Amino acid sequence: MRWPSFLYDEKTHVKGKMRTGLFRSRFLLQCLLLIFCGPSAADNDYENGTQSQGTPPLVQRHNIKTITAEHLVYVACLARFLLSSAPRWKDRDGPWVGKEFADSLLHLLYRNTTFMNETLDWYDKQVFKNRFDEDEYGSDCEAAMLLVEEEEEHAQEEQRKLDAHIAREKRKEAAKARAAQEDDTLPVDDEQGGALPVDGEQGDALSQDGDS
Ligand SMILES: *[C@@H]1O[C@H](CO)[C@@H](O)[C@H](O)[C@H]1NC(C)=O
Ligand SMILES: *[C@@H]1O[C@H](CO)[C@@H](O)[C@H](O)[C@H]1NC(C)=O
Ligand SMILES: *[C@@H]1O[C@H](CO)[C@@H](O)[C@H](O)[C@H]1NC(C)=O
Repeated sequence: MRWPSFLYDEKTHVKGKMRTGLFRSRFLLQCLLLIFCGPSAADNDYENGTQSQGTPPLVQRHNIKTITAEHLVYVACLARFLLSSAPRWKDRDGPWVGKEFADSLLHLLYRNTTFMNETLDWYDKQVFKNRFDEDEYGSDCEAAMLLVEEEEEHAQEEQRKLDAHIAREKRKEAAKARAAQEDDTLPVDDEQGGALPVDGEQGDALSQDGDS
């Protein structure tokens, strides 16, 4: 396999050192931003109006909060495909074998966890932090982050509702217990009829009003 120069940052790459500058090419970063965050994240000139159309970006659709080695290798495969002359995706393309390519890249990441952490941290920053801070008009990734916040708020709101419901139920129980106590002390009231017949009378009165 010819070693893929498109994955390297030319400025920092040192010949003969496999990992130096690997996964740091601007092209790979743009591919990743495009795939995970949508077109406006990868290209600042991208028309504003089309942002909200089409499929939501992956980060949003799958609620992705961190970039993994597998994400990165997936994007590297797609980037390789973009650069090839192949009209459609193939697992094999001349001397290029997709599985070998992916395996060797994963291997390079997993065999040096320091390198893997550094690389993935850098991508997390590109995807989630930098864009969030720097892009004053907001990117699709910012939208994704806002969505996550909204979901968290929603979860908190649900919890508040549940708490309120429990509190209400407790008050009802307490009221029932009090009523039961009152029933015990005033058994005569109970024989004269409960709340239901009274409600019925009110209902009749209302429907008569309605008819007239
Ligand atoms: C994108 O939106 C910003 C702010 O609304 C505007 O200034 C800019 O001209 C727009 N760009 C395009 C390409 O429409
Ligand atoms: C890589 O990151 C993980 C999770 O943040 C951490 O547990 C692990 O110790 C790190 N490994 C190295 C070699 O830095
Ligand atoms: C692992 O990666 C780190 C960071 O890129 C590098 O400094 C270190 O020399 C590498 N270790 C080995 C054994 O290649």
